[in-house]
Amino acid sequence: MAYLLEGLPVEVLRWMRTDRVTRKPVPVPWISPPQGGRPPKHGKEFRFGHSNTSGGCERHGRPARMVSMSPSAIRLARYTKTERDEVSGGVVDPSGVAETDLTWLDKEVHFGVRRQGRLVAHAGLVRVPLSVGAARLQVAGLGGVVAAPDSRGQGLARLVVTAAMEHARSLGIQFGLLFCWPDLVPLYERLGWRVLGDDLQVEQPDGPVTMPLRAMWTSLVEGVEFPGGQARLLSLPM
Ligand SMILES: CC(C)(COP(=O)(O)OP(=O)(O)OC[C@H]1O[C@@H](n2cnc3c(N)ncnc32)[C@H](O)[C@@H]1OP(=O)(O)O)[C@@H](O)C(=O)NCCC(=O)NCCS
Repeated sequence: MAYLLEGLPVEVLRWMRTDRVTRKPVPVPWISPPQGGRPPKHGKEFRFGHSNTSGGCERHGRPARMVSMSPSAIRLARYTKTERDEVSGGVVDPSGVAETDLTWLDKEVHFGVRRQGRLVAHAGLVRVPLSVGAARLQVAGLGGVVAAPDSRGQGLARLVVTAAMEHARSLGIQFGLLFCWPDLVPLYERLGWRVLGDDLQVEQPDGPVTMPLRAMWTSLVEGVEFPGGQARLLSLPM
């Protein structure tokens, strides 16, 4: 359902039943037909239930409760400049990575949070090849993590990052990898990421360079640690 609503200017507040039919509090006397049989399903002793009630509560005489759903991350059908501007409020480089002068890889899969139809957080994901020592592996490259300026500190980054990593896990990928400025290391540590100690080389159009940002990793499989050895990203960074 969330997938179908994606892109529409709506927010799911609660799931509602379609109109229910209930008996009136004081039933109209009903006389059993001479031939017997089941009680009627239609007739004037029935009325439509109010759509914001739930059967269970009403049956016990308690008032029905309006439920407000907390935000959840959804997979986005697209993440173009329009969506980027929607989240960042038009800020061109919210992560401040333009000064690195690096060329970045587009993300393939996007997760976001919408509030009242407006996109307020995003995280992108792309599978990237990595060599660590003699080993080669595919990891889930996380990037484009951003929360709307007026919605920060409300757990939205946690939601989108978790959704992205759950997706990567479902694909059988063992590790997540990201790059960030040092001041964001504590934030990602709160989300279970760890700093990848050594300087890491990444590909650029003119050949490999040392990544000036911190590299961090997270395990997507319980108990599996990142392999030891010098890591090198065999693609553009994400
Ligand atoms: C970085 C950013 C995405 C964080 O978004 P957010 O929605 O405010 O983050 P959250 O509220 O989900 O915080 C996640 C966790 O980090 C913690 N946290 C937030 N800022 C922190 C900090 N400076 N130091 C340590 N922990 C921090 C939060 O308390 C929360 O932990 P908790 O869930 O255990 O309480 C947001 O500030 C932003 O969009 N910045 C500009 C873009 C950017 O720099 N993106 C990062 C690119 S790598």
